[in-house]
Parts: sequence; C-alpha cells; structure tokens
Amino acid sequence: MKPDLSKITCIEDLRVVAKRKVPKMFYDYADTGSWTEHTYRANSRDFEDIQFRQRVLVDMTGRTLATTMVGQKVHMPVAIAPTGLTGMQHADGEILGARAAEKFGVPFTLSTMSICSIEDVAENTSAPFWFQLYVMRDRPFMEDLIHRAQAAKCSALVLTADLQVLGQRHKDIKNGLSTPPKPTLKNWINLATKPEWCMKMLNTQRRTFRNIVGHAQNVGDVSSLSSWTAEQFDPRLSWDDVSRIKDLWGGKLIIKGILDPEDAELAVKSGQMPLWFPTTAAANWMVPHPPSKPCPILFLRWAVTLKFGWIAASVAAKMCSKPWRWGPRAP
Ligand SMILES: Cc1cc2nc3c(=O)[nH]c(=O)nc-3n(C[C@H](O)[C@H](O)[C@H](O)COP(=O)(O)O)c2cc1C
Repeated sequence: MKPDLSKITCIEDLRVVAKRKVPKMFYDYADTGSWTEHTYRANSRDFEDIQFRQRVLVDMTGRTLATTMVGQKVHMPVAIAPTGLTGMQHADGEILGARAAEKFGVPFTLSTMSICSIEDVAENTSAPFWFQLYVMRDRPFMEDLIHRAQAAKCSALVLTADLQVLGQRHKDIKNGLSTPPKPTLKNWINLATKPEWCMKMLNTQRRTFRNIVGHAQNVGDVSSLSSWTAEQFDPRLSWDDVSRIKDLWGGKLIIKGILDPEDAELAVKSGQMPLWFPTTAAANWMVPHPPSKPCPILFLRWAVTLKFGWIAASVAAKMCSKPWRWGPRAP
C-alpha cells in the first residue's frame, strides 16, 4: 500500500511513526545520546533560541535556495548526514534515502556503518553520492573502502574525525543492540509488535554491515562484528593520516566533526578542505557545546533541524540526519 504522507507535516510526526513501527533497539539507537544524554538535550535546546530575521517589502519573486556545495549543484544547501544502521530502521533504508536525495537534488552521504554497501547504493541510484569514512586500525581494509568509493564514483569523501573513541550509550547496552537482532525472547516479543518491519526485512538480503562483512579480515560472520567494530576505530588518527587519506582519495575531501576553532584553523592550513561541524558528539560524547552557538544560515520548513557551527572553507550548508533518520519508515 502506498504510504499516505499528506498528514505528515513535521519531523516530529515522522518520529512518532518511527517509534510505532521500528523495533525498540533500533528506534532507541536513533533517538539517544551517550552517558547522561546531557549534550544531546543541550544541542536541541540551543535551536529553540534561533530566530530568523524577517525583511519585508522586497521583491520576493524568483527566490531560490538552489546553490552549489563542494562544487556540486544542489536544490538547497542541505546534505543528508551519514547515519549508521539506517537499513535496520527500514529494509534497504540507505538505498531509499539515496534515491530520495537524488530525486530532490541534494547530496546523500553513505555511512561506513551502513547496512547497504557502497556497491548496493551505487547500483540502485544514478546520482553520485558522498561516502563517509571512519578511520580503522585495519589500514588495508580502510584503503580498500576508499578504492571502493572511487570505483562507485562517489563525488566526495567525508572523513569523520570525532568518533575515534566510542562513548557509552546506555540504551544500546540495555537493549543489547546488534544487527540483525539476536534471537532472544525479549526481541521476539518486541518484533512481534512490528509485523511490517519484519516482512520488509524478510524481503531483503541486506541485514548486516555490508561495507564490512566479507571485506574486512576476520569478519567472516556477523557474530564477530560488534567486537571488531569496537576494536577497529583507530584512536591514533591525526592530521598526518588526513594528508595521506587526501592523497589516496585524490578527490573532494570533507572533514566532519571539528568542534574547536583551533582545529578548524589546522584543517584550513592542512589544505583548505571543507569542514562539516556536526553534533556526532551528542550521540557519542559528552563534550561542551561547539564553541560558537549554531547560527541559522537558511530557512527550511523543518527549522528545528537547523544547526550549524561556524563556517570555514567552502561549505555553507546544513547536513541533517533527523528528517532522514525518521523518514524512511513513514507510514
Ligand atoms: C543514529 C545516528 C547514527 C549516526 N551515524 C553516523 C555515522 O555512521 N557516521 C557519521 O559520521 N556520523 C553519524 N552520525 C552523526 C550524524 O551524521 C550528524 O552529524 C548528527 O546526527 C547531527 O545531525 P542532526 O542535527 O540532524 O541530528 C549519526 C547520528 C545518529 C543520531
């Protein structure tokens, strides 16, 4: 049955639908912060203070949000943020998200920790997408990921810099988050209340981290994956690595996760690369807010999703994950 989106008027509506339809462990994964979730709440609060300046009596005809981002023409200065496990929010979620972004004319960023692989998304879309890279200890595997993104003609590489040490996410621990879910009584009971999700999942083969399984050494089966992930994020990541990755990639590189002006200066010195100031930190860390409070840079109906640090280099846009986190499982 075709979903009726006519009554979905805001992101909050999507969240409510997602809570009803998605298994608890995956819903909680998408709507949680680390530790006490202080940063998660504080980041959201900051947006409540943002107001738009409204000018009047000016010619409003021909207005447009179309612009370019990292040299790419876009319908509006918004990109879909990388979001791990989206293929567990809805079967084939990353493919659906990439197609929607393509149709609307904004860039889509595929996470390293996606369920659908780089190849899955490339085969099912025609517009180039961006690939988000976590730097792993297993350097040959990481280099292979870069080569796969090149082969898939990804138009930018987004290097996430602020997640080398995983924060403790209490709900994930309590829920026993795994993909696919483990066959425990608690999970069976919860899954029984999500028949649509189960049916769609049974109709796809994409139920694990397909960028990783079958590509990284010692990850022959999914049961070893969670320990591998925890071990693999490389805490030694430094600016030297960024230079090496930039050379290896040879295309547009975006650094995601800069939270301090000094680091932003270093980034610009290291090669004028575009920076992406996100709040991955809220999901993963408990850190002070970004040094400058988010500033509004464009108007969207979904004003609540607007947050952006200060702008350096050439990116002046919002990357959002909220609409897309909840969106794939709209009614
Ligand atoms: C559930 C979830 C999963 C995420 N997964 C990733 C990821 O795999 N890679 C990454 O670089 N950032 C990841 N992020 C961070 C987002 O890309 C984004 O920077 C952050 O959520 C801010 O966007 P928002 O204000 O729209 O939530 C994730 C965030 C959430 C909430």
